[in-house]
Amino acid sequence: MNVIMAAPEAFPYAKTGGLADMAGTLAKELSRLKMNVLLIMPFYREVKERVSPDNLGKSFVVEIGGERITGHLYRDGNKNKNTVFIGCDRFYDRPELYGSPLGDYPDNPQRFIFFARAVFEASRLLDFKPDIIHCHDWQTGLVPLFLKTFYSRNGAFPFFAGTRSVLTIHNMGYQGIFSRDVLALTGLPTELFTPDGIEFYGKINFLKAGINGANAITTVSPTYARQIQTEQYGFGLDGVLRKKADALRGILNGIDYCVWDPNRDSNIPETYNRKGFTQGKGACKRQLAAECGFKDPDAPLVSFVGRLSQQKGVDLVFAAADDIVSEGVNLLFLGKGDALYQEELEALAKRHPGLIYAKIGYEEEFAHLVYAGSDIFLMPSRYEPCGLGQMIALRYGTPPVAADTGGITDTVRNYLPLSGKGTGFLYEGEDPRSFRQALWYALCAYQRPDCWKGLVKKAMAEDFSWKKSASLYKELYSGLAGS
Ligand code: ADP
Ligand code: GLC
Repeated sequence: MNVIMAAPEAFPYAKTGGLADMAGTLAKELSRLKMNVLLIMPFYREVKERVSPDNLGKSFVVEIGGERITGHLYRDGNKNKNTVFIGCDRFYDRPELYGSPLGDYPDNPQRFIFFARAVFEASRLLDFKPDIIHCHDWQTGLVPLFLKTFYSRNGAFPFFAGTRSVLTIHNMGYQGIFSRDVLALTGLPTELFTPDGIEFYGKINFLKAGINGANAITTVSPTYARQIQTEQYGFGLDGVLRKKADALRGILNGIDYCVWDPNRDSNIPETYNRKGFTQGKGACKRQLAAECGFKDPDAPLVSFVGRLSQQKGVDLVFAAADDIVSEGVNLLFLGKGDALYQEELEALAKRHPGLIYAKIGYEEEFAHLVYAGSDIFLMPSRYEPCGLGQMIALRYGTPPVAADTGGITDTVRNYLPLSGKGTGFLYEGEDPRSFRQALWYALCAYQRPDCWKGLVKKAMAEDFSWKKSASLYKELYSGLAGS
């Protein structure tokens, strides 16, 4: 079976968050299951800096708003021959993937209309006839609608006659909503400007286009699949999703065990596993505490790694920070995101030198040391489609204090001190008091070394490998192919 993974970002080439991990690892795992997978993504500046590309000498032209724009195909010269990059410097050769901390790039509609069309052009130029095109988030939301409207309609392109589309929703909070005049740029007929097509309260919505166009829709955890059909989590598309409920399912992400494994992680000073972690984890903590300049390197170390955005609830940690450090706890943040949160974080760290350390930026290698060297991991998300941070933290023996929502609900079991069952500290809702309470429980448990060791061991024993989920995707594709 031929599968195109159409991804706006993918690890190890370009990443802003978990979508990249998911798309990159799923492509790899499906190849292991003997499927022919072609990963297609934009040739961002970040990708250029990472790979030595082979120019495949194949070009195509897409017309957007009367302008003819040329794209070129590249391949990773060194590593994965199954990844193809769409080159178009005016769109993708920029410092960031989607925008600066101040806001999105204003031509994002053009950038992702172009990419969606490029997926089809690349597949034809490479003579890779897809059974499935698997799209991810709003950036590729037009792909299913293009397939339905242009490429497979009335046998217009026999090449795509048997192609079916799958859309994975990683986050309902980002939908790609643009003014009505963007419709003309897509080239889609104006008849699609209806609630069953691409229209959304007088504007157009790329994610909605994907939901309405795709043959199957998935999201990244079973709990989130249920949540997005409610008003609270649907961001205005819950009704559309309820209508498509039969085509929607939640498949939990895994984490890449080749990348995230404390037993063979080259980014940490000493490796460890669940049979023996005290020494290794201790060495990681010492190095981390030294790098962060904590006054008391033995104090409990509580960390946050993630996008600095409203979704991630980092403001709940800011609000509790003074109290947390007054309990003799070291607090570490690694994150990048909204300008206001970045400023607030910098001010917080300045106010508490030697107690609060903040690294503003995206630092893949440092993140490994943070997961390994911390005692407790914070994930106070307001909503969380899946969440990889809590799974990585568990694998590295760093129990999370986390909101009981979405994929967190499906991956973290609440710790019960009496029975010793559970793997982390969950709380419900967005209430700052509940978050503090859960953190307090975690700190109390940490003071009882025997209980804590049992908890760490259990956390590390959880299975978050991709095996099961990749076979669920395979099953889904097989059901669609030829349907
Ligand atoms: P989301 O995709 O919503 O951002 P996830 O928890 O699914 O959240 O995935 C986030 C991924 O990005 C994890 O692998 C996490 O380690 C990584 N990450 C997030 N922020 C940073 C950062 N500033 N530096 C390094 N890694 C980060
Ligand atoms: C999104 C979600 C996150 C999920 C990731 C990968 O960015 O916010 O919860 O883990 O996608 O699917």
